[in-house]
Amino acid sequence: MEFKQVVGNRRTIRFFEPEKPVEPEKIHIMLEAANRSSRAVNADFVKAVVCYRDELGEETLEKLKTPTTTVQLDLAPVAIFWYGDTTFDQGAQDRLKELTDLGALPVTHGWSHAYVDEVAYTQVVAPMAKDQIANTWAVSVECGLAINQAMLAAVDEGLGVGLHAFNGAVAKEALNIPDHWIPMWLMLVGYPAEDPRGGGQRPRRPLSANFYRGRYGTPWEDVPGVAEKLVAAGMLQEPMDAERRRAEVRQLAERFGLPL
Ligand SMILES: Cc1cc2nc3c(=O)[nH]c(=O)nc-3n(C[C@H](O)[C@H](O)[C@H](O)COP(=O)(O)O)c2cc1C
Repeated sequence: MEFKQVVGNRRTIRFFEPEKPVEPEKIHIMLEAANRSSRAVNADFVKAVVCYRDELGEETLEKLKTPTTTVQLDLAPVAIFWYGDTTFDQGAQDRLKELTDLGALPVTHGWSHAYVDEVAYTQVVAPMAKDQIANTWAVSVECGLAINQAMLAAVDEGLGVGLHAFNGAVAKEALNIPDHWIPMWLMLVGYPAEDPRGGGQRPRRPLSANFYRGRYGTPWEDVPGVAEKLVAAGMLQEPMDAERRRAEVRQLAERFGLPL
């Protein structure tokens, strides 16, 4: 699928085909996509535990639920628990030196082994890792980048995905999670039982509401013709139609025995 189409097709899927297995190859592709994400100090900030629902057991599934993560957990055949590693600074000096030796961090920009030891690591990376707020901020951003790449790879593979909250304490115990990993999000994966396009794109505010040109207060102005190109490429699609979606949800409720 073309990149713009993948971005345009992605929806949070909440109704999965519960018995349609997800090929391990596709999960592998998602993890490779996550592993390719850009990352500060070339570190492994993001961690994930891939679980097949039926291996988790009903009792654990029930306990993992939160007020916003309910029936989708029962329906999705695969649950990927994403975590962030707060010890990302370990090995950072060696990895930065490796990038320097390879020329990814070029000498033209001031990089050398001494610069890594005396400036980049000591003055930037180490203080950031030690400060709890800065550490959590860095880990969270990094995880967001990686998780999104996995999510888009899933859409490219014809899967449905959604991110959800989960009970971190229950998962920590059930999945043997180390203390230095912080919970991010639960990604549910499976083949959509609902329209894979979720009945249309979700409402979004115009770019001018959030993006600025030059300085805050000067809203971004759309470039004429771009929206039409993105419609043709599939990144911008029809918005949701509430009535059509209600009818679909009614049918899904009947099929899965869910309350309306
Ligand atoms: C980080 C993150 C956490 C989310 N957590 C939940 C959740 O706990 N339960 C849920 O039903 N949806 C959750 N969502 C899905 C959002 O509600 C969804 O993104 C929103 O409906 C917009 O729709 P879209 O993703 O289809 O564009 C989450 C989405 C993100 C990105």
